[in-house]
Amino acid sequence: SLPNKATIIEVGPRDGLQNESRTVPTEAKLAFIAALQAAGIQEMELASFVSPKWVPQMGDARDILAQAPKSGRQIVLTPNAKGIDRALAAGAEAIAVFVGVSDSFNKKNINKTTDESMTALEPLIRNLKDEGIFVRACISTAFYCPYEGAIDPQATLSLCKRFIKLGVDELSVADTIGMANPKESYSLFKLLRDEFPGTLVAAHFHDTRRMAIANIVAALQAGIDRFDTSAGGLGGCPFAPGATGNVATEDVVHMLHRMGIDTGIDEEKLAEAVQVIEPHVSKSILTGMYTLYKNR
Ligand code: HMG
Ligand code: MG
Repeated sequence: SLPNKATIIEVGPRDGLQNESRTVPTEAKLAFIAALQAAGIQEMELASFVSPKWVPQMGDARDILAQAPKSGRQIVLTPNAKGIDRALAAGAEAIAVFVGVSDSFNKKNINKTTDESMTALEPLIRNLKDEGIFVRACISTAFYCPYEGAIDPQATLSLCKRFIKLGVDELSVADTIGMANPKESYSLFKLLRDEFPGTLVAAHFHDTRRMAIANIVAALQAGIDRFDTSAGGLGGCPFAPGATGNVATEDVVHMLHRMGIDTGIDEEKLAEAVQVIEPHVSKSILTGMYTLYKNR
């Protein structure tokens, strides 16, 4: 049976803006974050502490974390010790690390194999847990890799197990290039839900082939009630060729509400948040609910 409540983890300020070709001013990002908070978003990825040479768009992560009004769970992403140190110095209380199941993707994204990444992250995650930090593990290429093709669900499961052993609080399991279909979504999320009953599991879908919303319904049926989404459908990983935006927050929230699943988010204010960021991004925002909002 379907849940009567679901949690949205808004990733627009991070996944949404990391691949943006224009430079988005820090003030505009802060206004976007504040508008999302006003709409009732309780969990959000605010920014990432990565190399500014690799991802210049996230170069202002410290200012974003310091200046965003405190509200709910505010997550910052980081791949390594330097990023974790910077995030903690900036006052982070929730940190997301990210590793790809596929070696080739992980090499392009973080310049390490999956195993090298894990070996480096293991002591760092243990320290974060000792310090009481909320740790989220983002599992990239959990279904398909842009370089290696289909990923064996057992490989995804074993990477997740490695994180669970370290005591992470949440797994965010990603279809990085939007290739998974609803049958695959159901079966992987059912497997993970059954394996890790005590851990938060979120589904992170990119909407490259417009299957994300169907994949969310399949994940709901598999017992998942946490979804990473991006307002305006912005987003994409700069190191995954062909990756486009995340599934749009406004479309997912609307569907969930229509299904009688509460999110605590105000749809009208959510559309207003999209309107705050729209002038700063290079692509027109054409998501279903935002288009209706603008045309009425
Ligand atoms: P590298 O070149 O192998 O690393 O990059 P390095 O240690 O040699 O460092 C290179 C330079 O960056 C050095 O500076 C470091 O100090 C600096 P220099 O000495 O040349 O002046 N540096 C840093 N600066 C700030 N913060 C840091 C940091 N680390 C090193 N944390 C590295 C390795 C991991 C740094 C690089 O590959 C990188 O930054 N990658 C990030 C890629 C990224 O952000 N990808 C997008 C996020 S993941 C994603 O979108 C997927 C997800 O949404 C789920 C899904 O959809 O699949 C989560
Ligand atoms: Mg992503």
